[in-house]
Amino acid sequence: CIEGYDSENARIACNDGFDTGGLSRKSFPEGFVFGTATSAYQVEGMADKDGRGPCIWDVYAHTPGHIANNATADVTVDQYHRYKEDIDLMKNLNFDAYRFSISWSRIFPEGTGTVNQKGVDYYNRLIDYMLEQGITPYANLYHYDMPLALQEKYGGLLDCQVVKDYADYADFCFKTFGDRVKNWYTFNEPRVIAALGFDDGSNPPSRCSKEVNNCTDGNSGTEPYIAAHNMILSHAAAVQRYREKYQETQKGNIGILLDFVWYEPHTRSKADNLAAQRARDFHIGWFLHPLTYGEYPRTMQENVGDRLPKFTPEEVLMVQGSFDYLGVNQYTSYYMFDPPWPKSNISSYANDWDAGYAYDRNGVPIGPRANSGWLYIVPWGLYNALMYVKERYGNPIVMLSENVNYYRDYISQLKKAVDDGANVTGYFAWSLLDNFEWLLGYSSRFGITYVDFDTLKRTPKMSAYWFKQLLQRDQ
Ligand code: NOJ
Repeated sequence: CIEGYDSENARIACNDGFDTGGLSRKSFPEGFVFGTATSAYQVEGMADKDGRGPCIWDVYAHTPGHIANNATADVTVDQYHRYKEDIDLMKNLNFDAYRFSISWSRIFPEGTGTVNQKGVDYYNRLIDYMLEQGITPYANLYHYDMPLALQEKYGGLLDCQVVKDYADYADFCFKTFGDRVKNWYTFNEPRVIAALGFDDGSNPPSRCSKEVNNCTDGNSGTEPYIAAHNMILSHAAAVQRYREKYQETQKGNIGILLDFVWYEPHTRSKADNLAAQRARDFHIGWFLHPLTYGEYPRTMQENVGDRLPKFTPEEVLMVQGSFDYLGVNQYTSYYMFDPPWPKSNISSYANDWDAGYAYDRNGVPIGPRANSGWLYIVPWGLYNALMYVKERYGNPIVMLSENVNYYRDYISQLKKAVDDGANVTGYFAWSLLDNFEWLLGYSSRFGITYVDFDTLKRTPKMSAYWFKQLLQRDQ
């Protein structure tokens, strides 16, 4: 039997074979891509080495009390040195692709200006080795890690100067790596960045209003919307550069990664249905609506009013249609209800939803709880989310770009959505390895590979072997 770690809590388990629920590569259309995902800050290590400039997470993690057990990502799983081992592992598990991110401050330590050649060399090594081993690179340009220099210079995402600086950084990456990288993403989870960095202040740069959290500065009635607006414009400006200068010759595609949660109305009442719709609009609609239709969802315009920035006619042209495909990170589902309590008079992104969460109906939870507190396992919610994106947003090409646990049930629902016409072309598991899970440090393990954080030894979990079987090529 195969012995290894199980994916829930890393107990040693033993397994004779794996139930793929009748699924195999043949269950999916020709060319469907299976991969795993990580991000630079969470796996690279070498945070202050080889010329990398600091990013806002470095300062945050080094301030005691922010991260579980005061962990830092200075070393994390050291992919900077162990990338070959990690790519060999992907290959051995039969994966096709790897979604990684490029650290802006490893390329431009000051955010703009001088290039750090050692950083460029690292990504060249990583990309070249992937291609040598037959693993297709999917490169994401921004995964929460704003260069500290730009944060200090002009407040990072709060200043529209970031649009040009980000587009210049993206342009450099297209020019330097685009001969080999054909799949790009501009941002990972801009909603999370705006909500946690500028509304509740739990993530850097810790902006929030005093009323909402125990913060000292900021204005969460306006700043999340400004940060999001600047990310949308930065995304669109980078896509414009790619399309004008590189796409024809390099023949690649570019998109954005959006997180989504399926919001199911708590009851059948009209009020709960509208509350669930507001939640979807304030979540994925915040970004996907402008990218598809050139403006924010109507519910957001109504509830946020003058605090919501507007796109100029030129910006509408740049933003609308600015993606070739969409990455959807989907982890969980919640019930939503229309709150019986009066609408708060404190302006903040969270209050603007004017909707309440529930995790059960009459005591029956929406799904089993996974090892991370906020995660309920609801495979049917993935189906609903994919069909929602298909129907509301003109059936864009979608890569399911992050998903975890109970893989068989989720992938079965994914197949069902594909069979029902959703234009999904790939699936990426989060994550290849246990790694630095932001505020939770190393206390929450998302990998299909167990990492001993003392020795950095990698050991595939049962879920890794499950994928290996699912993805066999000769069945
Ligand atoms: C969202 C993020 O993209 C990733 O960085 C994070 O580790 C996972 N989901 C799990 O929380």
